[in-house]
Amino acid sequence: MQKILIEGGVPLNGEVQISGAKNAVLPILCATLLADEPVEISNVPHLHDVVTTAKLLAGLGAEITIDQGTIGKGSESGIVVDPRSVHSHVAPYELVKTMRASVLVLGPLLAKYGAAEVSLPGGCAIGSRPVDQHIKGMQALGAEISVDHGFIKARADRLKGGRVVFDMVSVGATENVLMAAALAEGTSVLENAAMEPEIVDLAECLKVMGAQIEGAGSNRITVHGVARLHGGKHSVVADRIETGTFLVAAAMTGGRVTVRGARPDTLDAVLDKLRQAGAELDIDGDRITLDMRGRKPRAVNITTAPHPAFPTDMQAQFMAMNCIADGVGVINETIFENRFMHVQELQRLGADIRVEGHTAIVRGVPQLSGAPVMATDLRASASLILAGLVADGETTIDRIYHLDRGYENIEEKLSGLGARIKRIG
Ligand code: UD1
Repeated sequence: MQKILIEGGVPLNGEVQISGAKNAVLPILCATLLADEPVEISNVPHLHDVVTTAKLLAGLGAEITIDQGTIGKGSESGIVVDPRSVHSHVAPYELVKTMRASVLVLGPLLAKYGAAEVSLPGGCAIGSRPVDQHIKGMQALGAEISVDHGFIKARADRLKGGRVVFDMVSVGATENVLMAAALAEGTSVLENAAMEPEIVDLAECLKVMGAQIEGAGSNRITVHGVARLHGGKHSVVADRIETGTFLVAAAMTGGRVTVRGARPDTLDAVLDKLRQAGAELDIDGDRITLDMRGRKPRAVNITTAPHPAFPTDMQAQFMAMNCIADGVGVINETIFENRFMHVQELQRLGADIRVEGHTAIVRGVPQLSGAPVMATDLRASASLILAGLVADGETTIDRIYHLDRGYENIEEKLSGLGARIKRIG
């Protein structure tokens, strides 16, 4: 099995291109099922989860064309999905278990074909992650739903617009219901909707396809259902989590890094915390430069919460930074119940972390020391890479398939900034 080998101690320096957002491209690919014509998606990151989604759509009968090209220093690829040949409405366990986001075909299949059978999801082992809000939303639009033999089975002749009040903020449930409502008869109102930038990007793509949506990015989204959606072209928004991860890498290593092709307006909470940690930030259009040369980060306190608050997907990376910062940082995880699995691995590198329930208290140490560690989930793998970049000696990270689900060419991008990192095995 492949591993990543890092020799720590190099301050990162240079420029890096940010890829399209994983969490935007997955729902957008599912949304193409709603169209009557081919939909062309560009700025698609090369990620394992994208391949899984393409397989899922192909399994339903969609025709997928992947077009790869290199533009400038960054790589860009496009995917064209032609949903006209879709003949199945079943998302099988073999695919859904490897990627929770597969549940996002539920709304599109139900709205377009009147039926969907989606295996209950698996995905990252970061908590129980139920899908009750997805189901509640579909029911509010008139679907009949049963859950048996590990499948969500949904039916509806034609969905009808309705008012959906989510009990809690869920990114996936908001996306699923938004997609379903786009083809429902009449107007739907989604209350307590998630406000993540990826939802805005999904809504932008749906609008290109002819959907009528107001309020995406706020907690109340109104959708005027239309009878059909056509094809179109959409470019995926920049990945704010990848952006944040490279900025933390620069801050931890005492370097100076410019990220290109980023969307600084989607990163307020993360940039605030980097400033608090002592980083100098310069924002110029789609470029963010972080300068931490000759300095060490100060520990920061973090509480994860739905957007626009601090994202749970950046929690592990900031924990890694606190491990070598000056002072003590307290991290509260409020979104997922089991998202501290990186703690044990960071401790193997010499970190001083105490966990009490959903809180981790991190006392900075002067130096981490390289060791073999194991990735447990996607963002946890990123935190181990960050720790390896500053640890003394060699760190090897096992189970990096988690990383390939969500970071495009991370070792090439870090090498380009001077890191001593390579894939082995
Ligand atoms: C998405 C992101 C993931 C991110 C998360 C929170 C994608 C592909 N993944 O995941 O990277 O960490 O948002 O920002 O976009 N919940 C329920 N019932 C439901 C749905 C969710 O109780 O029906 C709970 C979950 O267990 C979790 C919380 O709500 O505790 C947030 O989950 P949700 O926002 O739905 O996350 P995902 O969409 O799965």
